Amino acid sequence: QGNLNQLAKAAGKLYFGSATDNSELSDSAYVNVLKNKDEFGQITPGNTQKWQYTEPSNGVFDYTQGDVITNFAEANGQILRCHNLVWHNQLPSWVSSGSWTAAQLTDVINAHIASEVGHYKGQCYAWDVVNEALNDDGTFRADVFYNVLGTSYLPIAFKAAAAADPDARLYYNDYNIEYSGAKATAALNIVKTIQAAGAPIHGVGFQGHFIVGGTPSQTDLTNVLNSFVALDVDVAYTELDVRFSSLPANAAGYAQQANDYGAVVGACLAVSRCVGITVWDFDDKYSWIPSTFSGQGEACLYWQNLTAKPAYYKVQSLLAAA
Ligand code: G3I
Repeated sequence: QGNLNQLAKAAGKLYFGSATDNSELSDSAYVNVLKNKDEFGQITPGNTQKWQYTEPSNGVFDYTQGDVITNFAEANGQILRCHNLVWHNQLPSWVSSGSWTAAQLTDVINAHIASEVGHYKGQCYAWDVVNEALNDDGTFRADVFYNVLGTSYLPIAFKAAAAADPDARLYYNDYNIEYSGAKATAALNIVKTIQAAGAPIHGVGFQGHFIVGGTPSQTDLTNVLNSFVALDVDVAYTELDVRFSSLPANAAGYAQQANDYGAVVGACLAVSRCVGITVWDFDDKYSWIPSTFSGQGEACLYWQNLTAKPAYYKVQSLLAAA
């Protein structure tokens, strides 16, 4: 029936892609699937562009590990979603525990973004500029950025990214904003805040970390995407996976998982400004879920032995039919 990226492009999308991570690239069976641009036309580095790797101490920049992934993608003709610039997590303690004035932290953000986005200039189709600024109730996360700068850190970050790479598409990226509710409303307000400050924002990334049987309906997903598109931004599913909340799974569970993946793909297909879908790795062997949610997992399109699940065939058939 065809490969996922090829089918997504034929359906008018820019890409179907996957996250990956440095340690995975020594697994040749996995790499043989990952490197096929017809299957995954887009790559996101799962870790090594994050602040803890790229500026481990103030003014000391290191792109060696991030470059391994970006070079891999370029060698294989895959576009890059670059991830991420400003995030409370995987943030070195010199940033999170510093006692900053507003002016000092602004300089820190500007220097970090100027260096990293400058280093990758011309290579990133998109950047996740700010990641996960919100709590699940829609209030702002009280991280160092918000505590010192309030919401002004949002336009500061987007302006800095635009200055360093005017061609990159600049995204706000978060989870639990895929369905209607307080957090989605707060994310809409983030877009408005950035726009009102005269800073560029081109897209919103919907991570899409869902649970089998608990995935929002395609209708709700589509409506939420459209509410963002109404603010004149692109949208994308950036970290899709659908995990079982208890294991082992059975055939009915795999069928449900297929339908859940299908709802997300269907929503993206229904919205022309949904530019693409990225899975947060495609192989259960490398899923982040089991180490974070004990007893949960099997969230990916492929089993550990690299055979495709019913969810894979559901995604494939929906893309093919579009
Ligand atoms: O690199 C060290 C290694 O040296 C050490 O031996 C090992 C021991 O635990 O840890 C390794 O670091 C781990 C890193 O992944 C690389 O494998 C960290 O402990 C681990 O916490 C880290 O997890 C990552 C997580 O973000 C951190 O929050 C996941 O791989 C990554 O998939 C996940 O990705 C996030 C997105 O960036 C944002 N959205 C949510 C998504 C899932 O949590």
